[in-house]
Amino acid sequence: MPTALILGASRGIGREFVRQLRAAGWNVIATARNDAGLDTLRSEGAQALKLDVTKPESLAGLGAQLDDEKLDLAIYVAGVYGNGGQATSPPTAEDFDAVMHTNVLGAMRAIPLIAPLVEAAQGKFAFITSMMSSIGDTDASYGWVYRASKAALNMTVKSAAFDYPKATFVALCPGWVRTDMGGPDAPIAVEESVSGLLQVIATLELKDTGSFRNYAGERLSW
Ligand SMILES: NC(=O)c1ccc[n+]([C@@H]2O[C@H](COP(=O)([O-])OP(=O)(O)OC[C@H]3O[C@@H](n4cnc5c(N)ncnc54)[C@H](OP(=O)(O)O)[C@@H]3O)[C@@H](O)[C@H]2O)c1
Repeated sequence: MPTALILGASRGIGREFVRQLRAAGWNVIATARNDAGLDTLRSEGAQALKLDVTKPESLAGLGAQLDDEKLDLAIYVAGVYGNGGQATSPPTAEDFDAVMHTNVLGAMRAIPLIAPLVEAAQGKFAFITSMMSSIGDTDASYGWVYRASKAALNMTVKSAAFDYPKATFVALCPGWVRTDMGGPDAPIAVEESVSGLLQVIATLELKDTGSFRNYAGERLSW
């Protein structure tokens, strides 16, 4: 039975990854940062581990618990949007730090802990980024800090791939999805997005490492 690790799975896209992977017969290890989230994950049949990606000691604890696990798939889903805002006024330091620490620094701290476990299974390490990160396709500044954080996450993924040549790294856009973050007006159901993302992940080969795709499998402009 293959094993997946989902980082940030208490709700939304992360929780749906847990559901669909369990339904497909995977052994799933999933993280949440509070007891309610951990209970949710256990109810989905996952092994639940506590993790706040903004806390280095929490990540170190996760690394210790994973020990010498071999991961066929790891997905960094944890993310926050922050206060939005645009280029007509500066973000607060608090908002900037919260978004960057969750979306970028957390991934940079997770990679050295988790990528060796993915390499051990010659597996895949996916990161949920966003179309809003695409410098080539940007046509507005709303969500300024979030955009910058996901562009930084993209570079994190692309560059880290060189240090872990036995793992397939990929940056994935889930589309605009109906979750707490995406809101009720988003056109894509979480089930559809995650099923598309899992199909894309399944088709990836080592030669695809360091690529940027959406949930329909299309290559995106960085
Ligand atoms: N929904 C969209 O339209 C959309 C579009 C593009 C990209 N994305 C990306 O997809 C990912 C999932 O988004 P979503 O729509 O499912 O959002 P969501 O419903 O708001 O869920 C966010 C998840 O991230 C977790 N998280 C936040 N801060 C964390 C931290 N410090 N440590 C650990 N976990 C943390 C949350 O845990 P708690 O329950 O503890 O807060 C929750 O499980 C994010 O990276 C987001 O940027 C979403």
